[in-house]
Amino acid sequence: MHILVTGHLGYIGPVAVRILKQAGHRVTGLDIGYFRDCVADGTGLVPPDREIVRDMRDVGPRDLEGVDAVVHLAALSNDPMGELDPALTHSINTQATLRMAALAREAGVVRLVFASSCSIYGAAEDQTEPLTEEAPFNPVSAYAVSKVATEQGLRDLATDGFSPVFLRNATAFGVSGRLRFDLVLNNLAAWAHTTGSIKVLSDGTPWRPLVHIEDIAAAILAAAEAPASSVHAQAFNIGRADANHQVRDIAEAVGRCFAGARVDITGETAGDPRSYRVDFSKALTRLPGFTPGWTLERGCAELHDWLKAGRLDERDFQSRTFIRLKQLRHLMEIGKMDGALRLRQTAEAGI
Ligand SMILES: NC(=O)c1ccc[n+]([C@@H]2O[C@H](COP(=O)([O-])OP(=O)(O)OC[C@H]3O[C@@H](n4cnc5c(N)ncnc54)[C@H](O)[C@@H]3O)[C@@H](O)[C@H]2O)c1
Repeated sequence: MHILVTGHLGYIGPVAVRILKQAGHRVTGLDIGYFRDCVADGTGLVPPDREIVRDMRDVGPRDLEGVDAVVHLAALSNDPMGELDPALTHSINTQATLRMAALAREAGVVRLVFASSCSIYGAAEDQTEPLTEEAPFNPVSAYAVSKVATEQGLRDLATDGFSPVFLRNATAFGVSGRLRFDLVLNNLAAWAHTTGSIKVLSDGTPWRPLVHIEDIAAAILAAAEAPASSVHAQAFNIGRADANHQVRDIAEAVGRCFAGARVDITGETAGDPRSYRVDFSKALTRLPGFTPGWTLERGCAELHDWLKAGRLDERDFQSRTFIRLKQLRHLMEIGKMDGALRLRQTAEAGI
């Protein structure tokens, strides 16, 4: 298939491009490039077959010509970025996505795999049972609201010939060519490595389901290749059966991996009310070929080896190379990006 991957220059994108290409698909990447230079490990970057430098808000019919499936990752991709300007989050994450999806449908694209998020469950009220795909939405941020609205809008666009699929990913972890340390496991591992103190800025009790980025990419591949009858307008929670962890358990797993590091539960409330346990059985039984392989312990070991091989210090890991919001602020400060998050060189760089 010819697959258009939006957001291929982000954290998950490089891994998705690699896995889709390994499976024999032709991949075009489309991205504005906010994080183009935020490279953690150039060896991990497999280029797409073709690249379009484009703002999602400017996608046109030509970008979708000859495309069989769209994997849509491009977004303001976490809660802090979403709060920068909630109206822009709506415009980029929801309006631009629905416009692109309508163009895709017109162009004959048959599948759209949408990177949604377990954040849509937010501060779940009923925590007696893990949340299935039928659980009520309880989004607690502009980011999560945008994912709910986009899922609903995409569902309305579904037709016999056009199947959107919603992958509600758990919080990601793992090493990518464009790594991020603003995610819980990656962040705690970086604290352990650079200071020996694994700082948990809460009482450690919130539940946070986790998933490795290679397992997200495996779900993307499965959702792109599945027969329409298995995935048409369906939502799937993406993670392993053992993916639900409390933050203090994540910290302790990191502590076991980094010799000499100790867990520091500060007890502050870091302003993040999210806590939810998620049921992943639908994807595990009904998404053909999806067999996630990454446990928490394996992820700790991967991060440990990457961190030990490099020279990352505390200042580095908190820098704009690894913290998305800092990179956006930097682009604005140096005048490369305007208040609407439009990169100034896009017009010239676009094809
Ligand atoms: N990382 C996670 O824990 C996680 C969990 C659940 C869901 N997701 C979703 O998966 C997707 C990918 O996540 P990620 O962690 O790789 O995000 P990321 O922020 O690292 O990458 C997003 C990419 O989208 C691009 N982009 C943003 N706005 C754009 C615009 N207007 N036009 C063109 N490109 C634009 C950025 O340049 C970036 O390369 C996102 O939709 C995110 O919401 C991520």
